[in-house]
Amino acid sequence: MHHFDYRDGKLFAEEVSVTELAETYGTPLYIYSAATFRRHFEAFDSAFKGLDHLTCYSVKANSNLSVLKLLADMGAGMDVVSGGELFRALKAGVPAEKIVYSGVGKRAEEIRQALEAGILMFNVESLAELHKIDEVAGELGKTARISIRINPDVDPQTHPYISTGMKKNKFGLDIEHSLEAYKIAMELDNIEPVGMDCHIGSQLTNIDPFLEALDKLLKFYEKLKEMGLEIKYLDLGGGLGISYDDEQPPHPTEFGEALAARLKDVPLKVILEPGRVIAGNAGIMVTEVVYTKSNPTKNFLIVDGAMNDLIRPSLYGSYHRIAEVEQNGRDAKEYDVVGPICESGDFLARDRELPAVEQGERIALFSAGAYGFTMASNYNTRPRACELIVDGDTVSVARKRETYEDLIANEL
Ligand code: LLP
Repeated sequence: MHHFDYRDGKLFAEEVSVTELAETYGTPLYIYSAATFRRHFEAFDSAFKGLDHLTCYSVKANSNLSVLKLLADMGAGMDVVSGGELFRALKAGVPAEKIVYSGVGKRAEEIRQALEAGILMFNVESLAELHKIDEVAGELGKTARISIRINPDVDPQTHPYISTGMKKNKFGLDIEHSLEAYKIAMELDNIEPVGMDCHIGSQLTNIDPFLEALDKLLKFYEKLKEMGLEIKYLDLGGGLGISYDDEQPPHPTEFGEALAARLKDVPLKVILEPGRVIAGNAGIMVTEVVYTKSNPTKNFLIVDGAMNDLIRPSLYGSYHRIAEVEQNGRDAKEYDVVGPICESGDFLARDRELPAVEQGERIALFSAGAYGFTMASNYNTRPRACELIVDGDTVSVARKRETYEDLIANEL
């Protein structure tokens, strides 16, 4: 559910006309709906109410400070994967003790930054990283709380680029060697193993792979107890999918109930790291048709948004629903919707049926709230888009459109 709807054929973001926003702020333009963010967070978080849990929103999905602040105000913790994301989460007012830090390549200065802030735990992805955290914590006279990210070798049945919990992926430690890692962790002076972690992939549309991974982790938990280690946290990562087209992902309550059934006698606090399911359908990207052109095989809509603004179609072949900002009732035509970038891979949709659109008209790409702006770049020296948050009838600029001067500011 989201709050981008048509009224008399005109697209609205909550109470505000998208045409007016595009006229005031220009295009390409990201528009987020505060009510949708709140609703998604509430729906997700309450799905686990039967369990002792902490929902740590995955910052990488949409890291705009206003978004983080909105979620922090609702009690969200955060999952970060870099010093930059940690900086953002703290700036947004997220208490450090609600922050978990994942990622395969944490550098010493990032580890130091996290220890100084006092985060809840590091999700450790290699033995080398474990030793580095021990060393940095020792230098600071601190004890680092950690969990080992266990790679359970489960196929999440999703796009290969976003599947992370199989043996061939770079993430975590394989489950066979993880026990040894905990033994080492228990012996290190400046490390306190407090949890187990896994994240098997993203855009999962079925809960079975999550449950398969959970079952493997619960067996592993028994081995930890036999070894005399009492942990407190079970971090199950993120990954719940959304509907971009006609996918029918499970509702969070289905996942919540399945977890509650399996964990009723397990005294662990569950940590969840949802990103897409909170942010994905809370944002759209609006773009204007600069030109149209046709050749004997194709009709092209050349728009002012491009792969630098929304890379998902180019990178993963992802589908984003597209519709006119003002419905025009014209007959449908098949288009390739392409950007101005000098690459054939610069497209937002291919072979897409849309009511005929003309130069100067605007279209909206839906489900662009997650992994949209956060994956944007300045390729072709294109300033990154403006981001707005609409809350009822109030519009806030969450990030100004970049200027040419911004683009060269760090070049000496
Ligand atoms: N936790 C960890 C450790 C992760 O690596 C991720 C996503 C998440 C949580 C959040 O997963 P989510 O709930 O959003 O599925 N750029 C890709 C998605 C990459 C996901 C990377 N990791 C896309 O546009 O589809």
